[in-house]
Amino acid sequence: MNRTRLLVAMPLVAAMLAAACGRESLPRDYAIDQAPAKLRPAAAEAESTIALLQRRLGARLNAELERAGPAEAVAVCRDSAQMMTADVVAETGNPVGRTSHRLRNPGNAPRPWAKPIVAAVDSGTLAADVKTVLVDLGDRVGVLQPIPTGAICLRCHGDPDSLGADLTAIVREAYPEDHAVGFSEGELRGFFWAEAPLRK
Ligand code: HEC
Repeated sequence: MNRTRLLVAMPLVAAMLAAACGRESLPRDYAIDQAPAKLRPAAAEAESTIALLQRRLGARLNAELERAGPAEAVAVCRDSAQMMTADVVAETGNPVGRTSHRLRNPGNAPRPWAKPIVAAVDSGTLAADVKTVLVDLGDRVGVLQPIPTGAICLRCHGDPDSLGADLTAIVREAYPEDHAVGFSEGELRGFFWAEAPLRK
């Protein structure tokens, strides 16, 4: 899906949901570079919370892949990613995580405010065509930041035939409902998300 279609699809989905739920309005969303001034400090805080989680997960993944290879490194994602996420939440006080339109771990399902945006993504969408979105949640903001599939990610999220028997078996056992294979380089793999409060 290109950027125009995503931007068109989001308000549409919001309108459909609002109609279905009989609610007047859903939280308002913006491309982050067009956020109203009063939301910008909270948006920046949410983005730096995401950056912290991203740095930590990336460093750990690289170290494990170098040390052990993908089958062992799966254990990092399986056991450590959630713990590392919980640490960043404790340190910053801001809820943060990862989600996707094609989930591996059902525990990474999108927050309610992010759900319509994530659900509107088509498989095969390029990450470069997706903007970071800011959602106005009243007393706080939510930020949803696209994650591109890099070459290194293909070792566990690429063509199922290229993954190798060991890795496939480990993933299948841990995530029987895995939807997170078959990605190509540059494709949108999912999103980082974070929430941060409006401070007076
Ligand atoms: C060693 C295997 C491995 C590699 C390499 C890997 N992942 Fe994952 N990924 C996993 C596993 C296992 C999970 C599910 C556990 C978790 O993290 O919650 C996962 C989950 C995710 C999620 C959370 C959403 C979901 O589907 O549950 C995202 C987003 C993600 N990976 C993106 C990436 C990106 C981007 C890269 C490359 C920088 C990457 N992964 C590299 C194994 C891997």
